[in-house]
Amino acid sequence: MDVVEFGCGTGRITEAIAPYARNLALVDYSETMVTAVAQKFPESQTIGADTSDAVTALLRGGRSMSFDLVTAFWSLSYPIGEFFEELSPAGVRPRCDQVRSREQARQFVLDLVGLVAPGGHLLAMLFDAESPEQQLVTRAWEAVAPFPDGGRAYTRNILVDALRDAENQGDGTLTHTRLGGVAWAPSRDAARDWFFGVHFKHHPQLLDDPALAIAVEEFIDRYEIAGGGVALPSGVHLIDFHAAAHPYASLPIGLSS
Ligand SMILES: C[S@@+](CC[C@H](N)C(=O)[O-])C[C@H]1O[C@@H](n2cnc3c(N)ncnc32)[C@H](O)[C@@H]1O
Repeated sequence: MDVVEFGCGTGRITEAIAPYARNLALVDYSETMVTAVAQKFPESQTIGADTSDAVTALLRGGRSMSFDLVTAFWSLSYPIGEFFEELSPAGVRPRCDQVRSREQARQFVLDLVGLVAPGGHLLAMLFDAESPEQQLVTRAWEAVAPFPDGGRAYTRNILVDALRDAENQGDGTLTHTRLGGVAWAPSRDAARDWFFGVHFKHHPQLLDDPALAIAVEEFIDRYEIAGGGVALPSGVHLIDFHAAAHPYASLPIGLSS
């Protein structure tokens, strides 16, 4: 099958899908990541670009409805969020016209669907913004810049709402599942690194916040387990859009039951 993965990173999940791919296109805006996956998957086509730019380029390059699998794992919130926020010299700032942002983000999702071949899937995994771990992360980042629409789940809501619209138009069917679990840190130090490195990106304002340091320690206290290590309650949203003709989609409402 023909596969494209956006925000592929080092190819952690790519390893699981590559064996099924006849043609594999890997996209990431980080040159470091693109170099890493080019070495790991030498047969693949690697694209160093922002996800939304890459989607536009692929559509313009004749790749519409051509991928059996369009995927993004823990990476789709970023391009969606970029329609709503911009990085300025003063930090992250909401864009002025949030109504326009919403429409652009919705169109981006529909463009992603436009890459999927008939019968194919758009498959995305997103972190669960409502888990205790992510609530702490959200509270921390809100001190740096507020999130649009009252919380970090807004990117997932944009994605799901746009896919539901696509389903209502008869372009396919949407399946949305939340899987609960834990993020495992083998030690307290690893859990601290997880928060301050992975989540807080060593942001100086967050590194220098004593109240946040206490909140992280209390969190780790709460979820440290007897045998050692910290089991951070977490979750993932699995979003699958199957581009299969919906048998009732073309019938007027009321005639479909
Ligand atoms: C959390 S990592 C996930 C990486 C990989 N999918 C995995 O599961 O291991 C997010 C990745 O998305 C990339 N990324 C973030 N925003 C992006 C954007 N707007 N366009 C393209 N890549 C982006 C980052 O460079 C990073 O490699």
